[in-house]
Amino acid sequence: MTNSALDPLVVLTGAGISAASGVPTYRGVGGFWQNYRAQDLATPEAFQHDPALVWRFYHWRRNLVHQCKPNQAHYLLASIEDKLEDFVLITQNVDGLHQAADSRRVIELHGSIWRLKCTKCENRWMDLTVPMKEDLPTCPKCGALARPDIIWFGEPLNAEDLERAYFAAGRSRFMLVIGTSSVVQPAAQIPIIAHEAGARLIEINPEITPLTAFADVHLRGSAISQLALWWESISP
Ligand code: APR
Repeated sequence: MTNSALDPLVVLTGAGISAASGVPTYRGVGGFWQNYRAQDLATPEAFQHDPALVWRFYHWRRNLVHQCKPNQAHYLLASIEDKLEDFVLITQNVDGLHQAADSRRVIELHGSIWRLKCTKCENRWMDLTVPMKEDLPTCPKCGALARPDIIWFGEPLNAEDLERAYFAAGRSRFMLVIGTSSVVQPAAQIPIIAHEAGARLIEINPEITPLTAFADVHLRGSAISQLALWWESISP
């Protein structure tokens, strides 16, 4: 079934959509960056200085996310995707919960906690094992030290992913922004591009964010309840 009145629909998600699954957000009460300093754990300099410390942080996060399951909001997005022909889901999350809920057209803007990349060669690979065999994982091709394939602070996003996200936003009719503080660039720019190109912008967030002033509708509340209400209100 297609719902052409909504096509193209682009969705941007942030940590808030996974909060109900038990994955801590980054900012706000209980957020990662309330308890840890991002510059010590999520920068290329931190990894160069102390790879063992950075890997300990990621082993801990992989273990945490491993115990989390997608929630109703992840599943509803996957079922909305099934109903639409022209749909893209852009996520800043690295937890893989959208894919676990069977979303298919996903752009992982900030990488994935389940993918590794070599610090020497171009090799990238998936590794879902928890706990991992090595504290300091190495590249299966060249043996050099591996790192999480995550975009750290100060690093550029994958140019192709960003291009696809900008392109999708620029031609969207509806843009749904769920559970992001909208303070991290360039992701925060994506809904603005959609807005400027004439898309209807719907924000789902219990808080006011820098995006709220641009939104046509701000559904104030949790991803699970507000996404269900929004979908109920527009689906035939
Ligand atoms: N439903 C919807 N939104 C929620 C919920 C919920 N149940 N709980 C919290 N939120 C909202 C918060 O109000 C906040 O605006 O989710 C947002 C989470 O914000 P952040 O923790 O800043 O997460 P995010 O915007 O995804 O962070 C962006 O920052 O550190 C980097 O790379 C990291 O991808 C991350 C990026």
